[in-house]
Amino acid sequence: MDNAEFKKQAHLMVDWMADYLENIENRPVRAPVKPGEITAQIPISPPQHGESMARIMNDFCQIVVPGITHWQHPSFFAYFPANASPPSILAEMLVATMGPVCMLWQTSPAATELETQVLEWLRELFGLPLGLVGVIQDTASTATLCSLLAARESATAHRTNQYGLKTVSPLTLYCSAEAHSSVAKAVKILGLGSDNLRSIPVDSQFAMQPDLLKDAIQRDIAAGCRPFCVVATLGTTSTSGFDPLVPIGDLCRQHDLWLHVDAAWAGSALAAPEFRWMINGISKADSIVINPHKWLLTNFDCTAHFVRHPEELVKALSIQPEYLKTTNQQLVTDYRDWGIPLGRRFRALKLWFVLRYYGIEGIQKHIRVHVKLAQELGDLIEAEEDFQLLVPPTLTLLCFRYRPTGNVSEQTLNSINQQLIESLNDSGEVYLTHTRIQDQFCLRFAIGAQRTERQHVRQAWATIKETARSLPL
Ligand SMILES: Cc1ncc(COP(=O)(O)O)c(C=O)c1O
Repeated sequence: MDNAEFKKQAHLMVDWMADYLENIENRPVRAPVKPGEITAQIPISPPQHGESMARIMNDFCQIVVPGITHWQHPSFFAYFPANASPPSILAEMLVATMGPVCMLWQTSPAATELETQVLEWLRELFGLPLGLVGVIQDTASTATLCSLLAARESATAHRTNQYGLKTVSPLTLYCSAEAHSSVAKAVKILGLGSDNLRSIPVDSQFAMQPDLLKDAIQRDIAAGCRPFCVVATLGTTSTSGFDPLVPIGDLCRQHDLWLHVDAAWAGSALAAPEFRWMINGISKADSIVINPHKWLLTNFDCTAHFVRHPEELVKALSIQPEYLKTTNQQLVTDYRDWGIPLGRRFRALKLWFVLRYYGIEGIQKHIRVHVKLAQELGDLIEAEEDFQLLVPPTLTLLCFRYRPTGNVSEQTLNSINQQLIESLNDSGEVYLTHTRIQDQFCLRFAIGAQRTERQHVRQAWATIKETARSLPL
């Protein structure tokens, strides 16, 4: 493609992008396609001869876009929304154009140095203590895996990397029963053994119970295990629980355990000081993960991973083949040693664009508006006799279910709510996901898409009520 053609196509695509965002509300939120429907439209072999961009774009519009679930739709309330703000999109275009692979300082000094500086901005934005040093990972799952690896190595004087796990007594780790599945996955990948992951019960607010954590640690020590790590969650995925860092941190210090804090979703709220109650006790954390790619206006993927002792992370992950050695290695940061992949995308640029374009004020407004909308929705749900609010919004996540008046069994309630969510999502008007709380199937409503305004939440609530009340009992 010559430069003139590239320019022409790029302009056409930017027009498409702007129109897409402007008209996104006219699309069904969740892709209304059946399994295999997209595959059936794609030839089984690649073309022998190159095709025109016009043809490719036409197929993109006809085949791909109808199969996309529109995460930027203002009525997207599923999972946790993942913001793709315009400045972030623009930064991604620049990165895609330059195509740098940012594994060593030398392979793009600006990428490394910007990453260091932007993570320091982020630490300050979130009110995190001095001394936490940041790195960008692709996802929270990766950050948690890397933290648990560093914790494992630190607990075993870096012997496990050398001799393998069999040389030590069982290493045990602890998280709440509401912790994200990425913890269990990290345990699998690290070969720790799922039997050595202790799931600590939560209280009525879905927070880990520190007394039960203490009991579990003591039981394990008595049984000859080697407790090494606790994962505390700030903002659990299903239920918006916040584990109490002060008593958990004290236990970690007492028993020399690594404290990893998973604030993947809720952490973005730290930009507004009134939500910093959740990090009371953070000074005892060894690592913390926050996903700007969820609620901080930054395109997927971008995870901020802060560590207190980066040398532990680097020691656990560093490998020095000849072909990666550089002359100034001692003077610079080579982020390849801070994570799993060698090649790294230039993710700091979009974060830099976002922080500069919106500023602290703009980011705080974005967070506060959503929290307010969630509180208003919580009030509306509570005002209805035939709905039950199971998780009120501490930030922007609510769980509730339809509970028609009269004598209806739990089993029937579960099946009605299942039908409700299916009808809602099939309608294309909204997209919600579900969870179960003490075996009660409920709707999980997460506010956080950049374009979501009061009217969208109100409309979604009207649709939910109407759909629920029209279901045959
Ligand atoms: C609390 C929590 N931790 C971790 C994750 C995993 O995030 P990622 O997709 O970045 O790995 C999620 C995802 O929603 C989450 O809610």
